[in-house]
Amino acid sequence: MSRVTDIRYVGYGVADLAAERAFYRDDWKLVDAGEKDGMFHFAAEGHGEGYVVRLREDSANRVDVIAFAADTRADVDALHGKVVAAGCRVVFEPKSLTTLGGGYGFRFFSPDGLPFEVSSDVEVRTPRQLDRWEGIPQNISHIVLHSPDHRAMVAFFVDVLGFRVSDWLGDFMCFLRCNTAHHRLAILPGPPCLNHVAYDMLTVDDMMTGIRRLKLAGTDIRWGPGRHTAGNNTFSYFTTPNGFAVEYTSELEHVDFETHVDQIHQPGPTTMDQWGTGVGGPQTMPHPKPDPCLFVAAEA
Ligand SMILES: [Fe+2]
Repeated sequence: MSRVTDIRYVGYGVADLAAERAFYRDDWKLVDAGEKDGMFHFAAEGHGEGYVVRLREDSANRVDVIAFAADTRADVDALHGKVVAAGCRVVFEPKSLTTLGGGYGFRFFSPDGLPFEVSSDVEVRTPRQLDRWEGIPQNISHIVLHSPDHRAMVAFFVDVLGFRVSDWLGDFMCFLRCNTAHHRLAILPGPPCLNHVAYDMLTVDDMMTGIRRLKLAGTDIRWGPGRHTAGNNTFSYFTTPNGFAVEYTSELEHVDFETHVDQIHQPGPTTMDQWGTGVGGPQTMPHPKPDPCLFVAAEA
C-alpha cells in the first residue's frame, strides 16, 4: 500500500527572518542549502535530504508546509487520490515541483487546515559522517501537532497516509511511525498548530553539547534535559527567535514497522521524564494557539 515513508522538511513564514536564519545557521547548526524566490533553505549535515528547514519572511509566524516523502511517483499519485477521497482541500495536484530540489508532489490541507506536501524524486545531498561530541543535528526526528479532535487526526494519518500507531500516552498523546523510527509524528489535543519539530543528535553527548552551545549563545533550555518513555528518546526543548518550539533528541527507539505492537503508557512525572532531573515541563513550553494561516496556502 502506498504510504508516507519519512519527513522531508518544514517550511515556516516568520516575521523576523534575519533572526530565524541566524538561529538555524549559527546556533542550531544547520547549514545553508541555498536561496530560491525569497526562500532560505537549511540542511542537516548528517542526512541526505536536500533541506530540512525552509524560511521566508511573512507578517505572521506561520507554518508554510510540512513535507513528507513517498517512495515513488506512483505512491504520490495514489496518496493524492486518498487525500481527495478523504475530503481534504488540495492546494495543488501532483506535478513537477518548482521548489528547490524539484521532485514530484502535491500539497493539501489536513482536515484541521495545516498545510502538507507529499513528494518523491527530490534532489538529495551527500551527508557527512558526524563525530560524537560535535553536537550537530543529524536529521529531523519527529514532528508533534495539536488537533481539536486528536483521535480523528490519528485516524486520518493512519487511514489516509499510512502511518501506524506506535504508542499512546494515556488517551491524549499518540505516537505514529512511517518507518522504523518509533515515531516521526505525534498528536496532542489542542488548537490546530505545530507543537514542535525535533532533530536527532548522534548520541546523548551530542545533545548535551548542543544544549551548552545554545546556552552560551543566549538560548536557554525550556524543558529538559530528560528522557521520555514512549520511544525512549532523550529530549531538550528550546524556542526559536520567532517563537517556534524545537527539540534536540537522541537514541529514539527503532521498531519493526510491520509488527510493532502499541501500548498505553500511563502519564506521570517519570513517564514524561524518566530521569526527572531537568528544568521545566510541558507548562514551560509555548502555549499552543491556532496557526494564524489555517487553510491559507503560502504559495500556489
Ligand atoms: Fe519531541
